[in-house]
Amino acid sequence: MSTVISNIGELVTNEGEPLRDAALVLENGRVAWVGQGEPAADERFDAGGRAVLPGFVDSHAHLVFAGERAEEFAARMSGRPYAAGGIRTTVAKTRAASDEELRKNVRRLVDEMARQGTTCVECKSGYGLTVEQEARALRIAGEVADEVTFLGAHVVPKEFEGDTQGYVRLVATEMMAACAPHAKWVDVFCERGAFDGDQAREVLRAGIDAGLMARVHANQLGYGDGVRVAVEMGAAAADHCTFLSDEDVEALAGSETVATLLPGVEFSTRQPYPDARRLIDAGVTVALATDCNPGSCYSSSMAFCIAVAVRDMKMTPSEAVWAATAGGARALRRDDVGRLGVGARADVLVLDAPSHIHLAYRPGVPQVAAVWKAGERVV
Ligand code: NIG
Ligand code: FE
Repeated sequence: MSTVISNIGELVTNEGEPLRDAALVLENGRVAWVGQGEPAADERFDAGGRAVLPGFVDSHAHLVFAGERAEEFAARMSGRPYAAGGIRTTVAKTRAASDEELRKNVRRLVDEMARQGTTCVECKSGYGLTVEQEARALRIAGEVADEVTFLGAHVVPKEFEGDTQGYVRLVATEMMAACAPHAKWVDVFCERGAFDGDQAREVLRAGIDAGLMARVHANQLGYGDGVRVAVEMGAAAADHCTFLSDEDVEALAGSETVATLLPGVEFSTRQPYPDARRLIDAGVTVALATDCNPGSCYSSSMAFCIAVAVRDMKMTPSEAVWAATAGGARALRRDDVGRLGVGARADVLVLDAPSHIHLAYRPGVPQVAAVWKAGERVV
């Protein structure tokens, strides 16, 4: 069964300049042909001159949770600062929830993402913080997410108050053994109020020894060791990157570590935005992701991230769209998503607009006309 998407006004492939008046053939879940013309196929979708791009790759999300924290958000908007401690509120609710409730919530959010053009989703644990609860979160994440990340080192749970080192030991040993089989990535929140550089190294080292690849929550709330640890440990991505020293930028530029910027967090916590221009000009690979979670940013919209990145972080529309697609793929070390070349997974977003610029130009406006994920029409 093959599908041709024809009459594409602008085709963003992330493999060279956008093509005009192009067509795309999808077959067996993959892109089988890209070019100009009207190739034959079993089925035809007329894009009507609209823009087509790779589905968004959201490389950073926390979807396995129960409850929400709207009151915390409202208080923040009247002046209370964001603090990592809010995570414990969600931990309590998540621990008390049934598997079915958690599953329903993850599915709801992944569907919400698909309706907005996101076709590849990374999902973290991190609201269980016991051996059983973290393993459960990862199993549930694995039922729907494309990429699963063990984030036992999110914060120190209240049972370990005053004994961070004891909790780090648990994460790096027993919890790692139970969780690594259900995940591909290990992550740690390296930040004052969560885990310091040495504790982050210990967790990442244990993850790598258990066969996982590393990614890090780094430099979100202040300057610190996160980015340096990420680079040193060969992490695929350092996420947030809001407070960076010149040395941090240099370290990223000389590495394979992607800087994943999460502007929805700065929007929802009223923090300064990360300096995307400084990173790109230094040669750092930049990705954009939502960080969708009930605390620091409860938005699942990649289009919103793009609009903010263009408006407030001085990214060009094409840089922002690249970062939300190919950049996310790099951050997940995947070469089958985030691009629309022959052989890529058939993750396709047809915009209800003539060009990718409209994503930033018309903020807040629904612009998704059709979506395919691995060749299946989902919208
Ligand atoms: O990426 N920074 C740590 N974790 C999340 C926030 C989680 C929460 O507040 O519930 C983040 O921003
Ligand atoms: Fe996060």
